[in-house]
Amino acid sequence: MSMNPRIDNWQGRRVWLIGASTGIGAATARLLIGRGARVAVSARKREALEALETKEPGSSQLLVLPLDVTDHAALLAARTRIVAAWGGFDLVLLIAGGYNEMRADAIDLPAVDAMIDLNLRAAYLCLDAVVPQLLKQGTGGIGLVASVAGYGGLPKALVYGPTKAALINLTEGLYFDLHDKGLAVYQINPGFVDTPLTKNNDFKMPGLMTPEAAALAMVGGIERGEFHIHFPKSFTSGLRLARLLPYRLYFWLIHKVTGL
Ligand SMILES: NC(=O)c1ccc[n+]([C@@H]2O[C@H](COP(=O)([O-])OP(=O)(O)OC[C@H]3O[C@@H](n4cnc5c(N)ncnc54)[C@H](OP(=O)(O)O)[C@@H]3O)[C@@H](O)[C@H]2O)c1
Repeated sequence: MSMNPRIDNWQGRRVWLIGASTGIGAATARLLIGRGARVAVSARKREALEALETKEPGSSQLLVLPLDVTDHAALLAARTRIVAAWGGFDLVLLIAGGYNEMRADAIDLPAVDAMIDLNLRAAYLCLDAVVPQLLKQGTGGIGLVASVAGYGGLPKALVYGPTKAALINLTEGLYFDLHDKGLAVYQINPGFVDTPLTKNNDFKMPGLMTPEAAALAMVGGIERGEFHIHFPKSFTSGLRLARLLPYRLYFWLIHKVTGL
């Protein structure tokens, strides 16, 4: 039995994608618009969001709501606009996130604050903006895009990793609170995806996917009603298994694979 309701048809479904101007979010917007969903897209770059429009401006099922996800008031205003336009939403995906590599010999406190604000604190701002509406509806769902970097400690991810680990934990807690209320919760953990976020990585990224393939995998998991959606399985399953090793072996293996 699936952990969330299955979705057979996106026609007319109301989806809010937060972090949809580039990468996985933009690919997901294009995919769902193509499948007939009504899609509200948010991020800071208005022009990139507007470029997702596939028909005459204003005539398609796209709602462009530029915002900074760390701005609570902006999230509340966007939520209000979606509810006014569509009467509610069926799915909210928090995709926005950022990555700065950081190691112990160079802790950059402003970068620490910014990453925690964007990757973690903003999740609570989004929850505050959307969960009351979802509970009122008694139907719909929310997904948080975390990362395989949240499964276990990794070199160079001294802040990114902990923020994503927190999101993984957060989705688990949310499932306890929302599943029995009829709401779907999705924990989404991509492996490596070729997007602006990974463009500065100076190492070989195993299992690197295109944003389009990542969007397909994510949407496929949601359609099947999965809770834990991770891809590509060849890479992510290995990391999940590695996490079960005794620490001595885990550290040895990650060091051997990354050379770090
Ligand atoms: N790429 C990977 O290998 C990978 C692996 C695991 C997990 N992930 C996660 O997947 C998610 C999407 O990443 P991506 O790879 O698709 O990277 P991306 O192309 O850089 O996309 C990040 C998105 O977040 C938005 N964003 C960033 N800061 C924001 C802010 N303050 N307010 C609103 N929106 C903001 C960006 O839009 P604006 O700049 O227009 O605001 C953009 O739409 C992230 O959470 C990332 O951690 C990615």
